[in-house]
Amino acid sequence: MSSINEFAHLKVPLEAIKLATNNFGDNCYISEGGFGKVYKGELFHFGDQVMVAAKRLDRRFGQGTPEFWKEIMMLSRYRHENLVSLLGYSDEGGENVLIYEYLPNKSLDRYLSSPKLSWIQRLNICIGAACGLEYLHNPGGTTQRVLHRDIKSSNILLDNNWNAKISDFGLSKIGPANQEFTFLISHPAGTPGYCDPLYVDKGYLTKESDVYSFGVVLFEVLCGRLCIANYDDGRRFLSKLAQSCYEENKMRTIVLDCLQDQISPDCLDKFSKIAYQCLQRNHYQRPLVAEIIQELNAALEYQLRYVKPGDMSEEELKSYYDKYPKKPILTLIKGHIKRILYYVYICLSIYGIVYGVLLWYYMIVNVNMARRKFIDAFSGEVWI
Ligand SMILES: Nc1ncnc2c1ncn2[C@@H]1O[C@H](COP(=O)(O)OP(=O)(O)OP(=O)(O)O)[C@@H](O)[C@H]1O
Ligand SMILES: [Mg+2]
Repeated sequence: MSSINEFAHLKVPLEAIKLATNNFGDNCYISEGGFGKVYKGELFHFGDQVMVAAKRLDRRFGQGTPEFWKEIMMLSRYRHENLVSLLGYSDEGGENVLIYEYLPNKSLDRYLSSPKLSWIQRLNICIGAACGLEYLHNPGGTTQRVLHRDIKSSNILLDNNWNAKISDFGLSKIGPANQEFTFLISHPAGTPGYCDPLYVDKGYLTKESDVYSFGVVLFEVLCGRLCIANYDDGRRFLSKLAQSCYEENKMRTIVLDCLQDQISPDCLDKFSKIAYQCLQRNHYQRPLVAEIIQELNAALEYQLRYVKPGDMSEEELKSYYDKYPKKPILTLIKGHIKRILYYVYICLSIYGIVYGVLLWYYMIVNVNMARRKFIDAFSGEVWI
C-alpha cells in the first residue's frame, strides 16, 4: 500500500503552475478530456526551465481524486521510454493538477488522416506504442502487471521525433504479472469503439482487452480515421468494417488514400493480419503484445525493402540506418546513383563551358594575330 508521502518529492507549488500557464489562461489551453482541461506552460522547477503539459482536474468531466492519485502512483513507478513521464503534481488550494513532460506533436488521433505522417512513421509509432504496452503487461522483476484499460489514439502521445508514448493511467488496473492469464471482473471502463466486446458484455478484463483496443488503433492508423465516424451506414464502426474487409480480401478499399502508393503489398498483408487477430472475439485467439511487436517489425522490414532509400526522408533514412546498420552501404549508393549522375553531368557541363570559353579566347587571339601579321606584311612592317 502506498502513502501520499511517497510522492512528496513530486509536489509542485500551485503558484508555480499558475505562473507557467498564465493562470490556466486560454492562450495556454491545448485541449481537454475526461480528466479536465490540458494547458501548456514553461515551468521553472526541478532547477531548470521546462516545457510542461498541466492537466487540471475538473470533476464535471467525469474523473476525480482516485484517478488523480492512480496516475501519480502509476507513472512514478512505471518508467519506460514509450510511457509519458510525470514530472510532478499539485494538490493545493482545492486543485488537483498533474504535470507531464510536454510532447510537441501532442496525440496520434490528430494525425490519423494527415498526409504529413508517412506509412513508415506510422509503423514506427505503432511499434513504439506496442513496446510501451508490452512493458505494462510484463514489467519484469517483482513489479506488477498493468492493464491500461484505455488504449486509444488520443492516449498515444508523440514527441518531437514522432516517438510514441502511452499516457493516461487513471483507469488502469494492477494484477499479478507472473501468471499467463490475468483475469479481473470489473465494471467496464474505457472509450466506446476501442473497448473489448467481451469486457463490455461480461465485465471480464484481461490483458487481451488492451490487445483488442490496440488492434482498433492499428486499423485507425491504416485507414486514417477514428474508430467511430460520422456515417450512418456500415462504415460507422471501424472495427466491424475492417474485419469484414479483411475477411473479403478487400483491405485496400479502406486504406487511407495518401498511403495507397506508399504501402508495400506484403507489408499491408502482415499489418492487417495482426490487427485483425487483435480483434478476435475469443481472448485466446488474440496475440500477445510481444507477438504484435514481432509482426509489426516484420511488416516494417517488408516496407523498408519495398521503399528505396532514395525515396525516404532524412528522418526515415536515419531510423533505417539505426535499425539495419549492415545493409545500407549498397542501398545508399543505389539510392543516390541518380544524384551522383546529376553531379557528374553538372561537372562535365562546367568543364565543357570552361573549355569552350578558352577555345574561343584562343581562337580570337590567334585570328587577331594572323590578321595583324597579314596587314603588317602588306604595310612592309615587321610585327612581333
Ligand atoms: N503531455 C502532453 N503533451 C502535449 N499534449 C498533451 C499532453 N497530454 C495530453 N495532451 C493533449 O491533450 C489532449 C487531451 O488529453 P486528455 O488525456 O485529457 O484527453 P483524451 O485523451 O482526449 O481523453 P481521455 O480523457 O479519455 O484520455 C490529448 O489528446 C493531447 O492532444
Ligand atoms: Mg488522454
